[in-house]
Amino acid sequence: MNMGTRFIATREAPVHERVKQAIVAATELDTRLVMRPLRNTERVLNNDAVERLLEKERALGKELRFEHILEEVAGVYPKIMLDGDMDAGVWSCGMVAGLIHDIPSCKELIDRIMAEAESLIRERLQGMLASSFVSL
Ligand SMILES: Cc1cc2nc3c(=O)[nH]c(=O)nc-3n(C[C@H](O)[C@H](O)[C@H](O)COP(=O)(O)O)c2cc1C
Repeated sequence: MNMGTRFIATREAPVHERVKQAIVAATELDTRLVMRPLRNTERVLNNDAVERLLEKERALGKELRFEHILEEVAGVYPKIMLDGDMDAGVWSCGMVAGLIHDIPSCKELIDRIMAEAESLIRERLQGMLASSFVSL
Protein backbone atom coordinates (compact mmCIF):
# COMPACT_ATOMS: atom_id res chain seq x y z
CA MET A 1 0.00 0.00 0.00
CA ASN A 2 1.32 3.43 -1.01
CA MET A 3 -0.52 6.17 0.89
CA GLY A 4 0.71 9.73 1.33
CA THR A 5 -1.91 12.45 1.29
CA ARG A 6 -4.27 10.55 3.60
CA PHE A 7 -1.71 10.46 6.41
CA ILE A 8 -1.20 14.24 6.31
CA ALA A 9 -4.86 14.60 7.32
CA THR A 10 -4.44 12.69 10.59
CA ARG A 11 -4.35 14.01 14.15
CA GLU A 12 -0.69 13.03 14.64
CA ALA A 13 0.66 14.53 11.40
CA PRO A 14 3.11 17.29 12.38
CA VAL A 15 1.71 19.85 9.92
CA HIS A 16 -0.29 23.06 10.36
CA GLU A 17 -4.03 22.66 10.92
CA ARG A 18 -4.72 24.73 7.76
CA VAL A 19 -2.97 22.04 5.65
CA LYS A 20 -5.25 19.34 7.09
CA GLN A 21 -8.34 21.50 6.54
CA ALA A 22 -7.28 22.22 2.93
CA ILE A 23 -7.14 18.48 2.22
CA VAL A 24 -10.55 17.91 3.83
CA ALA A 25 -12.05 20.81 1.84
CA ALA A 26 -10.57 19.73 -1.51
CA THR A 27 -12.49 17.80 -4.15
CA GLU A 28 -10.90 15.44 -6.69
CA LEU A 29 -10.97 18.37 -9.15
CA ASP A 30 -8.75 20.63 -7.04
CA THR A 31 -5.30 19.27 -7.95
CA ARG A 32 -3.12 20.33 -10.90
CA LEU A 33 -0.02 18.96 -12.61
CA VAL A 34 2.96 21.30 -12.56
CA MET A 35 6.52 21.22 -13.96
CA ARG A 36 5.52 18.89 -16.79
CA PRO A 37 7.60 20.84 -19.34
CA LEU A 38 10.65 20.25 -17.09
CA ARG A 39 9.95 16.47 -17.02
CA ASN A 40 9.51 16.76 -13.26
CA THR A 41 5.73 16.40 -13.07
CA GLU A 42 4.21 16.89 -9.63
CA ARG A 43 0.53 16.74 -8.63
CA VAL A 44 -0.24 19.61 -6.28
CA LEU A 45 -3.22 21.21 -4.58
CA ASN A 46 -4.36 24.29 -6.48
CA ASN A 47 -3.55 27.66 -4.92
CA ASP A 48 -2.27 31.11 -5.95
CA ALA A 49 1.31 29.85 -6.33
CA VAL A 50 0.14 27.07 -8.66
CA GLU A 51 -1.69 29.60 -10.83
CA ARG A 52 1.46 31.76 -10.98
CA LEU A 53 3.64 28.77 -11.86
CA LEU A 54 1.29 27.53 -14.60
CA GLU A 55 1.15 31.05 -16.05
CA LYS A 56 4.98 31.08 -16.24
CA GLU A 57 4.89 27.64 -17.92
CA ARG A 58 2.41 28.99 -20.52
CA ALA A 59 4.28 32.24 -21.09
CA LEU A 60 7.81 30.83 -21.29
CA GLY A 61 7.06 27.62 -23.21
CA LYS A 62 10.28 25.91 -24.27
CA GLU A 63 12.35 28.63 -22.56
CA LEU A 64 11.15 27.53 -19.09
CA ARG A 65 13.96 26.63 -16.65
CA PHE A 66 13.91 25.73 -12.95
CA GLU A 67 15.41 29.16 -12.20
CA HIS A 68 12.17 30.78 -13.36
CA ILE A 69 10.02 28.96 -10.81
CA LEU A 70 12.24 28.89 -7.74
CA GLU A 71 9.89 31.25 -5.88
CA GLU A 72 7.00 28.78 -6.24
CA VAL A 73 8.86 25.48 -5.61
CA ALA A 74 12.13 25.96 -3.72
CA GLY A 75 12.15 25.82 0.08
CA VAL A 76 8.41 26.32 0.35
CA TYR A 77 7.47 23.24 2.40
CA PRO A 78 8.36 24.66 5.86
CA LYS A 79 6.30 27.80 5.15
CA ILE A 80 3.27 25.75 4.11
CA MET A 81 3.50 22.71 6.36
CA LEU A 82 4.77 24.39 9.54
CA ASP A 83 3.57 28.00 9.28
CA GLY A 84 0.31 27.25 7.42
CA ASP A 85 1.07 29.92 4.82
CA MET A 86 -1.11 28.22 2.22
CA ASP A 87 -0.17 30.29 -0.82
CA ALA A 88 3.59 30.32 -0.15
CA GLY A 89 4.27 27.74 -2.87
CA VAL A 90 3.16 24.50 -4.47
CA TRP A 91 2.75 21.33 -2.43
CA SER A 92 2.10 17.69 -3.33
CA CYS A 93 -1.42 16.39 -2.88
CA GLY A 94 -3.12 13.35 -4.44
CA MET A 95 -6.51 13.35 -6.19
CA VAL A 96 -7.51 11.17 -3.25
CA ALA A 97 -8.10 14.46 -1.38
CA GLY A 98 -11.62 14.25 -2.84
CA LEU A 99 -12.24 11.13 -0.73
CA ILE A 100 -10.82 12.56 2.49
CA HIS A 101 -13.52 14.07 4.70
CA ASP A 102 -12.14 13.82 8.23
CA ILE A 103 -9.03 13.99 10.42
CA PRO A 104 -8.85 10.71 12.33
CA SER A 105 -5.99 9.45 14.50
CA CYS A 106 -3.57 7.10 12.70
CA LYS A 107 -4.98 4.23 14.79
CA GLU A 108 -8.55 5.01 13.72
CA LEU A 109 -7.43 5.31 10.10
CA ILE A 110 -5.55 2.00 10.05
CA ASP A 111 -8.34 0.20 11.94
CA ARG A 112 -10.78 1.50 9.32
CA ILE A 113 -8.56 0.37 6.42
CA MET A 114 -8.21 -3.10 7.97
CA ALA A 115 -11.97 -3.40 8.57
CA GLU A 116 -12.72 -2.35 4.98
CA ALA A 117 -10.12 -4.81 3.66
CA GLU A 118 -11.59 -7.64 5.73
CA SER A 119 -15.13 -6.98 4.57
CA LEU A 120 -13.94 -6.70 0.97
CA ILE A 121 -12.12 -10.04 1.23
CA ARG A 122 -15.14 -11.67 2.86
CA GLU A 123 -17.87 -10.21 0.63
CA ARG A 124 -16.26 -9.79 -2.78
CA LEU A 125 -13.30 -12.17 -2.89
CA GLN A 126 -14.87 -15.10 -1.06
CA GLY A 127 -16.44 -16.47 -4.26
CA MET A 128 -13.12 -16.30 -6.07
CA LEU A 129 -11.33 -18.14 -3.27
CA ALA A 130 -14.01 -20.83 -3.05
CA SER A 131 -13.97 -21.50 -6.81
CA SER A 132 -10.18 -21.66 -6.96
CA PHE A 133 -10.11 -24.21 -4.13
CA VAL A 134 -12.63 -26.38 -5.97
CA SER A 135 -10.44 -26.41 -9.07
CA LEU A 136 -7.32 -27.35 -7.08
C1 LIG B 1 3.64 16.12 0.95
C2 LIG B 1 3.98 15.14 -0.14
C3 LIG B 1 5.25 15.14 -0.68
C4 LIG B 1 5.58 14.28 -1.70
N1 LIG B 1 6.83 14.31 -2.22
C5 LIG B 1 7.14 13.46 -3.23
C6 LIG B 1 8.44 13.47 -3.81
O1 LIG B 1 9.33 14.23 -3.39
N2 LIG B 1 8.71 12.62 -4.81
C7 LIG B 1 7.77 11.75 -5.29
O2 LIG B 1 8.05 10.98 -6.20
N3 LIG B 1 6.53 11.72 -4.78
C8 LIG B 1 6.21 12.55 -3.78
N4 LIG B 1 4.94 12.53 -3.26
C9 LIG B 1 3.95 11.66 -3.88
C10 LIG B 1 3.80 10.38 -3.11
O3 LIG B 1 4.71 9.45 -3.57
C11 LIG B 1 2.36 9.95 -3.33
O4 LIG B 1 1.69 10.68 -2.41
C12 LIG B 1 2.17 8.49 -3.13
O5 LIG B 1 2.35 7.91 -4.36
C13 LIG B 1 0.78 8.13 -2.54
O6 LIG B 1 -0.27 8.78 -3.23
P1 LIG B 1 -1.37 9.57 -2.38
O7 LIG B 1 -0.70 10.76 -1.77
O8 LIG B 1 -2.41 9.97 -3.41
O9 LIG B 1 -1.87 8.63 -1.36
C14 LIG B 1 4.61 13.38 -2.21
C15 LIG B 1 3.33 13.38 -1.67
C16 LIG B 1 3.00 14.24 -0.65
C17 LIG B 1 1.59 14.20 -0.10
